[in-house]
Amino acid sequence: MKKQMIGLVMIAFAWGVQTEAAEVTWQKDIKPIFDKQCASCHSTGSPEHDEFSKDKKKWIDKSIGMRMDSYSLLVSYVGWPQTGALIRRLDDGSGKADKKAGNMYEHLGDTEAMRKANLDTFKAWVGNWNPKRWKDITKDELNALKIKY
Ligand code: HEC
Repeated sequence: MKKQMIGLVMIAFAWGVQTEAAEVTWQKDIKPIFDKQCASCHSTGSPEHDEFSKDKKKWIDKSIGMRMDSYSLLVSYVGWPQTGALIRRLDDGSGKADKKAGNMYEHLGDTEAMRKANLDTFKAWVGNWNPKRWKDITKDELNALKIKY
């Protein structure tokens, strides 16, 4: 019995260490993908979200999106105020009836394999891949977000 207990404790410990090592963070995992795949249109030369909204056409014509190159800015496209925007835009559509991918999915990589791999990293980082907007999302769904720095 004692031996069994020790065994269980060791398994629990090993599992804890493993999940900690596998934790996806913005610094370690997301920023490198973002810098490579997204920064050309969403970085220093880009306006804040509401500045962008004042004259969308002007920015879209120049192929410039809203600025989201810091942790706090990117998180505002997951949690609030642009709740779920990152999820709606990056999703591959596989879980939807119409199978339509979000319009930023194509930027995740040059090959389908790379897009899928980078999408998985974003999904693991967000923790709760939920496309809902602020008016529909529940407190429990917000609580399930991981979005670690
Ligand atoms: C070639 C330029 C370009 C690249 C590269 C690009 N985007 Fe975009 N993105 C845009 C433009 C322009 C818009 C605004 C037009 C629109 O809404 O589709 C936009 C919109 C968005 C939005 C919507 C924000 C909102 O308020 O609804 C998100 C989220 C987003 N991009 C994320 C990303 C991510 C993450 C990447 C990298 C995987 C990326 N984009 C790569 C140009 C780009």
